[in-house]
Amino acid sequence: MSFRNFILSLAASFGVAWLALVIVPYLKMRSMEPISLSEDEVSGTSVVFNPKRAGRISDGAEVYAENGCYQCHTQLVRPTYAGNDMFRPDWGGLASDEDRGDTRRETNAFDFAGEKYANIGVARLGPDLSNLGRRVTAVYAIDEEIEPELWLYRHLFKPRWLPERRQSACPSFAFLFDQVEVKGNPADETLPFSGKDGREIVPKPAAKALVSYLLSLKKDQPVPAALNFAPAQAEPAPAAAPASAPAEDAPAS
Ligand code: HEC
Repeated sequence: MSFRNFILSLAASFGVAWLALVIVPYLKMRSMEPISLSEDEVSGTSVVFNPKRAGRISDGAEVYAENGCYQCHTQLVRPTYAGNDMFRPDWGGLASDEDRGDTRRETNAFDFAGEKYANIGVARLGPDLSNLGRRVTAVYAIDEEIEPELWLYRHLFKPRWLPERRQSACPSFAFLFDQVEVKGNPADETLPFSGKDGREIVPKPAAKALVSYLLSLKKDQPVPAALNFAPAQAEPAPAAAPASAPAEDAPAS
C-alpha cells in the first residue's frame, strides 16, 4: 500500500466515525426544543410530578448502590420498540390499579429527578425494580397478608423462602440484619423465622433504609402525553369510523 493510500484510508476510517458520532448528532440535536407539557386534555396531566426522595429513602438508595443491586436489577422500563418490558406483569406499573386502572408506562428521564444515582442498572438477572414498591404493596403483601416492609425484609434475608422462589438467584443480604436474644415481646420488624438458638432476626438501620427506598420505587405517575408512549394509554380507536371502512385500515394495537 502506498503511503498516500495509507493516509487516505486512515482519514476515511476516522472521518466516517467522526461524521456519524459527532457531526450527524450535532446537526440533529443542536436545536432541540423542550418538550411541551400542555397536552393535558389527552393524558389528564400537564406537569411532571417528581416525588421527593430524601431522608431514609436517599440513604436507602446508597445501600442499594453499595450492595450492587444494580448489577442484577434494572430500573428502566424500556419502550416497546426496544423490548417487551411493558408486557411483563406489573413491571411498568400495575396492570390494574384499584383507583387508576392501568398505570403502566415507560421510564423517562424525569423519573430519576432528585436521585443522587440513577440506578438504571447494568444487567438484568432479576426483575426490573422501577415499580417494585407498587408490586409489593398491591400484590405480594396482599396475597400473603403481611406488611410490605416485612415481605421485603424476608426477601432480603432469605430470598428462597417462598416455595415458588426456592431457586431464586437473588443473594441473601443477611448481613443487613442482627440476631438478638428475645427479651419481652418480639420487635415489630422481627422476621417470621428465627435465627440461631431461637434468636429473633431484626433489620439493621441499613436494611430499614434500603426497604424504605425499595418501597418508594413507584415510577408510574401519570405523565403528559408528550412523554407517554405506553400502549396501555393508547387513544381509543375513533368511535365514529364508518362501518364500511376496510378492515386493514384499523390501527394495529
Ligand atoms: C446476582 C444477581 C442479583 C443481585 C446482586 C441482586 N438480586 Fe435481587 N433478584 C435476583 C433474581 C435472579 C431475582 C428473581 C428471583 C426472585 O424472585 O427471587 C431477584 C429478585 C428480587 C426481588 C423480588 C422482585 C419481584 O418483583 O419479584 C427483590 C425485591 C430483589 N431481588 C431485591 C434485591 C436487592 C434490594 C438487591 C441488593 C441489595 C438485590 N436484589 C441484588 C438477582 C439479584
